Amino acid sequence: MSEPITGRVVIVTGAASGIGRAATERLLDGGGAVVAVDREAAALAWVDELGPGARVDTVVGDVTSAETNANAVARALERFGRLDAAVFNAGVSMSGDLLELPMEEFDRTIAVNVRAVALGIRSVVPALRAGGQGRIVVTASTSGLGGDPNLWAYNTAKGAVVNLVRAAAVDLGADGITVNAVCPGPTETAMTSRLQSLPVLHEELRRTIPLQRWGRPEEIAAVIAFLTSADASFITGAIVPVDGGVTANTGQFRPRPLAD
Ligand SMILES: NC(=O)c1ccc[n+]([C@@H]2O[C@H](COP(=O)([O-])OP(=O)(O)OC[C@H]3O[C@@H](n4cnc5c(N)ncnc54)[C@H](O)[C@@H]3O)[C@@H](O)[C@H]2O)c1
Repeated sequence: MSEPITGRVVIVTGAASGIGRAATERLLDGGGAVVAVDREAAALAWVDELGPGARVDTVVGDVTSAETNANAVARALERFGRLDAAVFNAGVSMSGDLLELPMEEFDRTIAVNVRAVALGIRSVVPALRAGGQGRIVVTASTSGLGGDPNLWAYNTAKGAVVNLVRAAAVDLGADGITVNAVCPGPTETAMTSRLQSLPVLHEELRRTIPLQRWGRPEEIAAVIAFLTSADASFITGAIVPVDGGVTANTGQFRPRPLAD
């Protein structure tokens, strides 16, 4: 038998790894229940290993499909009896020259990072309305607040999802549903593994971060969990950088290093 749910019932997309996994673990630790969504069944195996008593269920599917989103809501209602929040976190990064990146890759970046979030919001709203205190959190990025070299497709997608969050907050406020975004800076996950494996680039990036280090997935998850909580009752349409100070810097000068 599972313990009673003392926290929130939450859908988390991209829950197989990185920030989504850390958010799932944090919500479960807080007494919540999670429907963990990801496209890769094998990568979600860590959830199954929590055992039958864990207040967590999985949905395997691509978040760009309406069916996956509908399945996640249905699973939350069937298994846990309600839905309190959704964390739209699944994302892909695409780098490539502005003139050469195939437009199909641009389309895919938009589909996963923007269109799937719109689809997700439309899917969860009826269930969130029923509770009267719904919460939606989107993992955007500092890359949604400015441009990066060769990341134009990702910059475009994350910039769009930032404004989708604002627009949805305006439209859903009367339903008591809050919609907020976190904007992680460089964070140690699978998405950035290639960058982490290149010592010179990793170090160069580290030195642009005022806190002088990369973020950990748990540090992003803590803010996501807060934004899904009852305590976050009067914050909506907020775009919250969780970036070690990256967006505080104008970029004109490199921050003063710790000790060199
Ligand atoms: N790592 C960073 O430095 C960083 C910085 C800013 C923003 N972000 C954002 O954080 C979010 C999480 O990324 P992460 O860093 O944890 O990377 P990650 O690669 O570890 O996790 C992303 C997860 O999303 C899943 N996913 C991707 N496309 C999917 C789809 N179409 N359907 C279902 N699942 C899908 C992947 O399978 C993976 O498990 C993303 O939106 C990313 O853009 C990451």
